[in-house]
Amino acid sequence: MYRISIREIKAPETWPVRQRVMWPDKDIEFVKIDNDEEGIHFGLFENDTLISVISLFAKGDEARFRKFATEKDFQGKGYGARLLNFLIDEARRMGIKTLNCDARLTAAPFYKKFGMKESSEVFTYNERGMEYIKMQIKL
Ligand SMILES: CC(C)(COP(=O)(O)OP(=O)(O)OC[C@H]1O[C@@H](n2cnc3c(N)ncnc32)[C@H](O)[C@@H]1OP(=O)(O)O)[C@@H](O)C(=O)NCCC(=O)NCCS
Repeated sequence: MYRISIREIKAPETWPVRQRVMWPDKDIEFVKIDNDEEGIHFGLFENDTLISVISLFAKGDEARFRKFATEKDFQGKGYGARLLNFLIDEARRMGIKTLNCDARLTAAPFYKKFGMKESSEVFTYNERGMEYIKMQIKL
């Protein structure tokens, strides 16, 4: 029997998951964020194994989530949805009114299911060779 739980974790706990899932060809340094220590990080666990991570950065009544990743073998099982719903509830509880993210274009259909709307044109970060779009939800 698997027990699923979600709890706050420390930034360094997110780094190996971020690296494996999002940037497997890069060094772990690449997945650290300058202000990681200012973020609130959440992890979804299957028993004691960390499966999915997401990080929230709040400023006033706006916030942005970043580095959302579910271990490859566990994707498509609804864990990401549970974690994102948890984060949205937490943000609401914190008084956040607008929640933003820079979505990988490949993940935009996923975010739309949560009521997020596209709020920019498609763009690229030069060094990453990947397409993104800004997405937003009013809470
Ligand atoms: C995006 C991600 C975090 C979602 O986590 P997950 O645990 O796989 O998500 P879930 O299993 O909860 O998926 C929920 C639903 O969204 C769908 N879905 C998941 N990823 C999707 C995608 N990229 N595009 C469209 N639909 C997607 C699932 O099929 C499922 O659909 P259903 O509810 O109709 O069955 C995960 O796919 C991931 O780590 N991707 C690689 C890294 C990444 O792109 N991160 C986001 C950067 S912005």
